[in-house]
Amino acid sequence: MDASGNGNDYFVIKAKENGVHVIGLTRGADTKFHHTEKLDKGEVMIAQFTDHTSAVKIRGKAVIMTKFGTIDTES
Ligand code: TRP
Repeated sequence: MDASGNGNDYFVIKAKENGVHVIGLTRGADTKFHHTEKLDKGEVMIAQFTDHTSAVKIRGKAVIMTKFGTIDTES
């Protein structure tokens, strides 16, 4: 991922309620869930896109900070 120059960006997810799910989806031909992390209110996850993770789905009320700005999910 580093060879492409865009694998270094971290993003931050801060849960605004209990039971927010951060779901990592696989890179490549198959797009599958490979990891689900459950965050409770106030918990923060700092993550990157990697060789294994090309997309992330956030379920629940959370603030997501990326280089594109801050995104607030609806509840
Ligand atoms: N083992 C995963 C990976 O290296 C860990 C991971 C990285 C992850 N970023 C993520 C899991 C985002 C969920 C969401 O790809």
